[in-house]
Amino acid sequence: MLAVLETLPGLSRLVQEELNIKNVEHRVVYREDSCLYIDVNPHDISKLRSLQTVNYVEIELFDVDYVRDTKTLRKLLREKFREVKELIKENSLVTFRFYEVSKRIQKIILREAERVFKCRLVKARGDYVLSARFLFRKIRIFLDIGTFQPLYRRWYTRYKSRASLNPILAASLCVLAGSHKIVIDPFAGSYTIPIEYCRMWRPEKFTCLDISFQYLSKGLHNLQSVNSGVYSRIEILCCDFFLFTPREKYECIVTDPPRGIRLEVSREFYNRMFRKFAEICTDECIIVMPMFGRYIKFIEECARDNGFDVVDKVCTVQGGYRTFLVKFVRLPR
Ligand SMILES: C[S@@+](CC[C@H](N)C(=O)[O-])C[C@H]1O[C@@H](n2cnc3c(N)ncnc32)[C@H](O)[C@@H]1O
Repeated sequence: MLAVLETLPGLSRLVQEELNIKNVEHRVVYREDSCLYIDVNPHDISKLRSLQTVNYVEIELFDVDYVRDTKTLRKLLREKFREVKELIKENSLVTFRFYEVSKRIQKIILREAERVFKCRLVKARGDYVLSARFLFRKIRIFLDIGTFQPLYRRWYTRYKSRASLNPILAASLCVLAGSHKIVIDPFAGSYTIPIEYCRMWRPEKFTCLDISFQYLSKGLHNLQSVNSGVYSRIEILCCDFFLFTPREKYECIVTDPPRGIRLEVSREFYNRMFRKFAEICTDECIIVMPMFGRYIKFIEECARDNGFDVVDKVCTVQGGYRTFLVKFVRLPR
C-alpha cells in the first residue's frame, strides 16, 4: 500500500531512518525534500501514526489514470469515490488538499466528491482530509490517517516556553543522536527534546536542566501527560548550566541552546558552552543541536576550538529561518 509521509523541508532522510528505528517494513518508492512515498504492508499502517518526525501521514485510497476526456474522468472518479464511501462517516466535513493538480482537475474532483458523499464542501478543517496528488502520471487520492491536524501538535503539549522547539525538529535531533544511556539537555525549557528522546529511545537517565524555574515547573504538565515510563527516567535540575557539576559524564547531549535571533547570543556564549560540554561529557560523546544558518560558521569554529568536529548536518527551515541540525563528535585528544 502506498503511503505519503510529509515532514519539514530537508528532513525526509531522517523520516527514513526513523522507519528503520521503529522496524516498519517498507520500500521507498520516491523521495522528495520534505516527502517520503513508501510502499508499506497494510498491517504496519498503525505504526505510521507514531512516527515522530512526520507532520502528516496519508495512505492511498485509489488512483485514476489522467484522461483528457472529462466525461470518462468524472465517471472513473465517481466509481472510485463510491468504493471508499463507507470509510467516511455521515455528516462529516471533508477537506481536500491538492498537490500538482491543475485547477480544472481540482474542480472535477471536488464536484464528484460532493455528488458521491452527498456533502457540501466548505472551506473548513474537516473530520477527514483527502488529498489529491498528481504523481507518477496518475491522479492519486490519499486519506490523512493522522489526527486530522498536523502531527507536530502533540497531545502532551499543555505548556510552551517562549522559545519552545517544534517537536518534529526535536524528534529529528533524536534520530540524528541515536540511542545512548546517559543523556542531557542543558537548555531543556518545556522538555520538548527530553520527551521526544524518551519516546524514541530508552535512556537509563535523561537530565533536564534549565535556568528558568517558570519553564521547568509549567513544563511539568507536558511531562505528566506522556506515559509514566518517560517520567521515571527523567532528572530535573533548575540551575545555570555554567555552574553545573555533574555526578557522572554524559554520553550524549541533545539540546536547543539559546538561539540568538532575539538574544543576540555571541561567540563568547558558544565558546563557554562548548568548553562546558567538554567538561561534562565522555570522550565518545555525541552532541546534536539546531543552529540558525547565519550563525553556523562561528558556532562550528567555537566547537572546533574546544575539541569537537561536525560529522553530520541536515538543512531545514524553522520559523522561516534556514536552520541546520548538526551532529558533533569529540576529536581524539
Ligand atoms: C531555545 S530555549 C529551549 C527551548 C526548549 N527546547 C523547549 O522546547 O521548550 C533555550 C533555553 O535555555 C535556557 N537558558 C538560557 N541560559 C541558560 C543557562 N545559562 N543555563 C541553563 N539554561 C539556560 C532558557 O531558559 C531557555 O529555556
